[in-house]
Amino acid sequence: MNNIAVLTSGGDAPGMNAAIRAVVRSGIYQDLNVFGIMQGYTGLIEDKFQHLKVSSVADIIHRGGTKLLTSRSEEFRTEAGRKKALANLRKHNIDGIVVIGGDGSFAGASKLAKLGMPVIGVPGTIDNDIPFTEATIGFDTAVNTVIDAINKIRDTATSHQRVWLVEVMGRSSGHIALEAGLAGGAETVLIPEVPKDLETVISKIKKGRRRGKLHNIIVVAEGVGSAMDISKDIESISGLQTKVTILGHIQRGGTPTAFDRVLASRMGAEAVKLLLEGKSNRMVGIANRAIQNVDITEALASKKEIDLEMYQLAGVLSI
Ligand code: F6P
Repeated sequence: MNNIAVLTSGGDAPGMNAAIRAVVRSGIYQDLNVFGIMQGYTGLIEDKFQHLKVSSVADIIHRGGTKLLTSRSEEFRTEAGRKKALANLRKHNIDGIVVIGGDGSFAGASKLAKLGMPVIGVPGTIDNDIPFTEATIGFDTAVNTVIDAINKIRDTATSHQRVWLVEVMGRSSGHIALEAGLAGGAETVLIPEVPKDLETVISKIKKGRRRGKLHNIIVVAEGVGSAMDISKDIESISGLQTKVTILGHIQRGGTPTAFDRVLASRMGAEAVKLLLEGKSNRMVGIANRAIQNVDITEALASKKEIDLEMYQLAGVLSI
């Protein structure tokens, strides 16, 4: 193996830069030529390859976003698109590729592996919705961004004695909402994995008010539905002033936490190691602090379960 490539794909996540740096530097350390592909699968199809040096990834470990840029490529979903991508990889004599992204990116990676290109996936998404890894790169930073926002919202919610819904990302999963809700001391966490009726939510708000609580923070995972709609229902039934903050894409930006930088560094280096060992169609993950790897196809066929014990604990601690 002489030449490897790396790309980032799908929604960006804080720590992707640290993962790129790890791939590039550990590759060069092991005498490989490392190419960066700009703009994810779009750049792979459009032949946007760059030879990377040690200095190409200097000064990025602490930066959010992705230096290689990213995209959600429709063309790569087609067979014709993937053929163009493979032809470009062959043209640059690439012997293996590291794909940093989420489940959509891994579905593409797996198809590339089936065409005969060795591929290793590194899970980079704020959603933490990838099975066989306790954490994905960017999740910890996103959760910290959310609790920072909740801390601020709580100040004004208390001053005005308001109910406040904080809508967070996560696509169809509730991992961000659950961890941020527990860490942020929210009264209620609404996640798609555990349906909860409005009456239960409102009776908890009222119970809190009876014992002198001045605010109520409800974290709503976007997968549950619109926090705006839920807020209108709560306000009209409870009569309490209810506000909504949709955190949106601020959850995807910002400097990565130490946890995400370390995770990304370990996972990026492991991906290169796996390519050198001749592995393909594997995804790097972490379990009990140890880096492991699993078959991408197996990972794509599974669903990451929500931690129900954690969910119950969040309820117990916010009575
Ligand atoms: O997968 C990451 C994520 O931020 C999700 O939480 C969210 O639903 C989605 O991407 C938003 O995607 P886009 O930036 O393309 O609107």
